[in-house]
Amino acid sequence: MQEILSFEHAHMEYSTKRAKLVSVGDVSFKVNQNEFVTLIGPSGCGKSTLINMVLGLVKPSSGSVLISGKPVDQHTSRIGVVFQNAALFPWLDVQHNIEVVLEPIMRNKEERTATALKFMKMVGIDGFERAYPKELSGGMKQRVSIARALATSPDLLILDEPFVGLDVFSAQALREELLDLWESPETPPHTVLMVTHNVDEAVQLSDRLIILSRRPSHVISEMKIDLGRPRNTRVPEFYQKVDEVVSVMSP
Ligand SMILES: Nc1ncnc2c1ncn2[C@@H]1O[C@H](COP(=O)(O)OP(=O)(O)OP(=O)(O)O)[C@@H](O)[C@H]1O
Ligand SMILES: [Mg+2]
Repeated sequence: MQEILSFEHAHMEYSTKRAKLVSVGDVSFKVNQNEFVTLIGPSGCGKSTLINMVLGLVKPSSGSVLISGKPVDQHTSRIGVVFQNAALFPWLDVQHNIEVVLEPIMRNKEERTATALKFMKMVGIDGFERAYPKELSGGMKQRVSIARALATSPDLLILDEPFVGLDVFSAQALREELLDLWESPETPPHTVLMVTHNVDEAVQLSDRLIILSRRPSHVISEMKIDLGRPRNTRVPEFYQKVDEVVSVMSP
């Protein structure tokens, strides 16, 4: 199994004027190619901090993060990311929000347009090419954000609580669409690292869970979710797995 991402004794201390705060205590885990791995743990335990380490936005105080075996500042892998707030450029319409991230990797304007349109269609926002972010619902903005992340054909897709701001139905629809894309060998993403607080969501989507403790965090348990796919979320096996995760999280 090819390893895409590896945290090795990652540790993070933030110093503020008032105090020193250890958010990530000692976290080690790996994500392999084609896996859907979810980080789950209480608020403030450092999940976003760990994601920011992968994106090179913060440096661990000690320990390391390797992407395809290389340090974060030397790797050549493509990483797509979707945050809780879609983080779109308000001054660009939907199509250009996607095209703009393709500029560094596609020199040809027609190719950028064709790719943007293809991924818009894939996530069901075709017809909104000329709409601006402020004209879209939360669910549609999140679809644009997912299309934008996937259009670059990332080696790794990172999702930091992407369904949190959505109503139950939009969130469920978007989860299922994302799973369909992930399960299809022809379309990205192939490898996913997701962050969530939602145990049902984690069990529905993931191959493996990395369960973190409260701050300063460490990995309490790595749990394989060995339920078949497509997953039925209304059967006793599913509820049992959810209960198992909840009991590990609240010992
Ligand atoms: N730039 C910063 N400076 C100081 N403290 C920070 C900074 N960023 C995060 N923290 C602190 O580090 C801890 C972990 O934050 P982080 O955002 O990584 O947690 P999280 O697990 O993503 O939480 P949530 O589930 O609420 O999103 C928190 O206590 C937070 O206040
Ligand atoms: Mg967070």
